[in-house]
Amino acid sequence: MLDKLNDVESTGLDALQAVQDEAALEAWRVAHLGRSSGLMQIFSQFGELSKEEKPVVGKRANEVKKALEVAFGAKAEQMRQAALKRSLEQEQLDVTLPGRRLPLGRLHPDTQIQRELFRVFGEMGFQVYRSREVESDEYNFQLLNFPVGHPARDMQDTYFIEAEGRGDNPIVLRTHTSPGQIHAMREYSARDPQDPPSVRIILPGMCYRYEQTDARHETQFDQLEGLAVGPGITFSNLKGTLADFARRMFGQDTRTRFRASFFPFTEPSAEFDIECFLCGGKGCAVCGGGWLEIGGSGMVHPVVLKNGGYDPARFTGFAFGFGIQRIAMLKYGITDIRYFWENDLQFLEQF
Ligand code: FA5
Repeated sequence: MLDKLNDVESTGLDALQAVQDEAALEAWRVAHLGRSSGLMQIFSQFGELSKEEKPVVGKRANEVKKALEVAFGAKAEQMRQAALKRSLEQEQLDVTLPGRRLPLGRLHPDTQIQRELFRVFGEMGFQVYRSREVESDEYNFQLLNFPVGHPARDMQDTYFIEAEGRGDNPIVLRTHTSPGQIHAMREYSARDPQDPPSVRIILPGMCYRYEQTDARHETQFDQLEGLAVGPGITFSNLKGTLADFARRMFGQDTRTRFRASFFPFTEPSAEFDIECFLCGGKGCAVCGGGWLEIGGSGMVHPVVLKNGGYDPARFTGFAFGFGIQRIAMLKYGITDIRYFWENDLQFLEQF
């Protein structure tokens, strides 16, 4: 048995010398230290030995096992070191190579144009007033003089949110920023109901309409609303404000045009256009006839003033509202509104 053990040891150690790679090392471990190895077979025959033989053979068997395990560990370490040395030699690190450029983040074109609008109106004394996107029918329509069933509601295809028991006042996603007019006027007039303060605000934010999307229509889009209320505000204040805005935003020579229109919450009402700054008003592929439509406007309707807590006998006001993406499209020459929310880097990286 002792001879057999000597043989197991020398064969194992010799075979280990020839091992060159990790697969061979694993095969060696199975063959010489595994369950079916010669060494383990000797351990399993232990019971057949005499009382005198057992301690002698047992001691030697443990020595052989230890010797093979130590040799295996040393070989594994030697191979790890050799692999490391090889990789250091072959895959040299060139610290003089330029690093990988990290892409710089930037603001979305929509945010950029909003900030520019805030700057322009800020210089004209308007403050930003933020209002909610989830509205009630009452605020989105009724208090703005669109009673239940009014045909003007058809111009704003609406997303309704199912909620039990609300009758004629369902929850809606706001179709325009105009309900913010009521929130703002109510908040301002509550400060001093007998002598409410003047209002001069812009109301930016996302609006939602159940639209057939195309190059100029999205189901969600930003509007910028403007509202000024005070004693003695006239239509010429509205025209002057929008003409000044157009010059500050699109250039000093930009001309503005008003066309009679209808909104239930303004009287009189007007669409306002700017002279096309791309062709100088001559007519081009973008504008058609030399003018670009920007949005709606008008004098705040007496019913709306009253609903906001302002006495129409003492106060007047003007309001306007336009699509922020439409302004960005004009300013940057963007041909399709659907690019805004597609998150395509090829589009976004141009701004
Ligand atoms: C309104 O929404 C009125 N609340 C505007 C207003 C405010 C009038 C205050 C008077 C006083 P209108 O539905 O026309 O009006 O929308 C105004 C602007 O929002 C449009 O000129 C357009 O620029 C933008 N807009 C409307 N629908 C869409 C849409 N589906 N996609 C992108 N922009 C849109």
